[in-house]
Amino acid sequence: DQPLAADEQAEIKSNSAVKLAAVFGLWYFQNVIFNIFNKKTLNVFPYPWLLASFQLLVGSLWMAGLWASKLQPYPRVNRKFFLALLGPALFHTIGHISACISFSKVAVSFTHVIKASEPAFSVVFSALHGQFYPIHVWLSVVPIVAGCGLAAVTEVSFNTQGLWGALISNVGFVLRNIYSKQSLYEFKHIDGLNLYGWISIVSLFYLLPIAVLIEGRHWPQGFGTALASVSSPWTFYTWILLSGVFYHLYNQSSYEALDEISPLTFSVGNTMKRVVVIIASVIAFRNPVRPLNALGSAIAIFGTFLYSQATALESSKKKKGITKKNT
Ligand code: 3PG
Repeated sequence: DQPLAADEQAEIKSNSAVKLAAVFGLWYFQNVIFNIFNKKTLNVFPYPWLLASFQLLVGSLWMAGLWASKLQPYPRVNRKFFLALLGPALFHTIGHISACISFSKVAVSFTHVIKASEPAFSVVFSALHGQFYPIHVWLSVVPIVAGCGLAAVTEVSFNTQGLWGALISNVGFVLRNIYSKQSLYEFKHIDGLNLYGWISIVSLFYLLPIAVLIEGRHWPQGFGTALASVSSPWTFYTWILLSGVFYHLYNQSSYEALDEISPLTFSVGNTMKRVVVIIASVIAFRNPVRPLNALGSAIAIFGTFLYSQATALESSKKKKGITKKNT
């Protein structure tokens, strides 16, 4: 029986590795499509608040459709769950809108280079929340900050709002992750897909009223200008719809991946995703890239890799410590 059990185990392992590879592949592919259609839309319709709200609306309707058709089981939720969701959804909203503002001001590749510095924010905000990393983790942040700095000063499309948007987006997403871990800990029975669905819906309620207040009055004229700048109205409708559908799909895939892997593997996967998106968007939009800018981006991304190695080393040390204590 022994070899059969080993065979079965190997098969289960390889099946889940195949499934995980498929989820990662989907996540990257959907993110590239989102980034391209999001930027195409913003190029003719420069209203990030309205666009970001529309994307959350598409996601909310998508989830309502999945639940109504029973394709996705509706999760049991209660008042306590909604209260726990308020913080993470607020930070998700901040992360999303500020990224969208950044995309509307600078090249997609530049926003993603700055967003690759998210680990640096993670170290600082974790320290502010009482979780201190050792010195080698802090040191791994140095190339991230230096690389981003070099990329920023040599960026052809540089714009202050674009830089700030990407930086604030990092703060938003890091706080979302910290508060998700803290407040949603006891709702583990809600899977990644359903959790992200509820985050979209609550985020829509946060964002839409503010978007209407800030950009609502530009809506009719902006829509008219957008339709006039494309070959046919359907081109614009297709772009905006694809940006909404793929925004939801890539987030859904990333939350599905998160169900299976540790947050650390997740953040390495997210950085690798940015490499794919940066290359794809530079090709798609033919953005000029200066050699020093490419060097800065590469240093920043290499720094993220060092950071992941340093934190992995730390968590394996901690685990070993726990095993020693228990023996
Ligand atoms: C957004 O608009 O929310 C950003 O595209 C988020 O970017 P990320 O998921 O790549 O961090």
